[in-house]
Amino acid sequence: MSEQYNIRPMRFTDIEQVLVVEQDSFQMPWTSKAFVNELVKNPFAHYFVADDGRDIIGYCGIWIVMEEAHITNIAVLSGYRHQGVGQSLVKAMIEQSFKLGVQTITLEVRETNTRAQQFYRQFGFRKIDVEKGYYTDNNEDAWIMSLTFD
Ligand SMILES: CC(C)(COP(=O)(O)OP(=O)(O)OC[C@H]1O[C@@H](n2cnc3c(N)ncnc32)[C@H](O)[C@@H]1OP(=O)(O)O)[C@@H](O)C(=O)NCCC(=O)NCCS
Repeated sequence: MSEQYNIRPMRFTDIEQVLVVEQDSFQMPWTSKAFVNELVKNPFAHYFVADDGRDIIGYCGIWIVMEEAHITNIAVLSGYRHQGVGQSLVKAMIEQSFKLGVQTITLEVRETNTRAQQFYRQFGFRKIDVEKGYYTDNNEDAWIMSLTFD
C-alpha cells in the first residue's frame, strides 16, 4: 500500500525500476532499450512515473504530435493497484495533452482486457475501432479507444 506518491516526468535513472513494473504488468514487456529510445530519441514522447519516495510504483507514456496524442503504455505495480495511482497517471497525461493543444487522445487495449477498458471509460474514452490481430503473441484484436476534447 502507498499512502503518498508523486507524479513526475520519468528520468533515465528510473528505467531499472520501471522495468519491474513493466514485467509485473504485461505479457510482452518492453525492454530497457525501448525505454531508453523513448526518453533519449523520441521528441514526441512524454513519460511519467508515480514515485512513492522509495520505489517507482507506476508509469505511463504518451506521444504528442500536434493535435493528436497516443497513449503508449500505462502500468501500476500489482500490489499498488485500486488506490487511484492509475487515475493520477492518466490525469497527468490528459493535463499535458491539454496544455499542448491536443484535440484527440487514442490508445490500444487488448480485447480481453475488460478492466483496462472500463478504467479508460471513466475518463471519457470510447471504443472507435478494432485492429484485427494487433497483438502478435496471441493474435488478439486491439480495441482502439479515443477521447476528444470539445
Ligand atoms: C490499468 C491499470 C494501470 C489501472 O491502475 P490502478 O492504479 O489500479 O488504477 P486506479 O486505482 O486508478 O483505478 C482502478 C480501479 O480502482 C478503483 N479505485 C481507485 N481508487 C480507489 C480507492 N482509493 N479505493 C478503492 N478503489 C479505488 C477505481 O475506481 C477503479 O475501478 P475499476 O477497476 O472498477 O474501474 C492497472 O490495472 C494495470 O497496471 N494493469 C496492468 C497493465 C494494463 O493492463 N495496462 C493497460 C494496458 S492498455
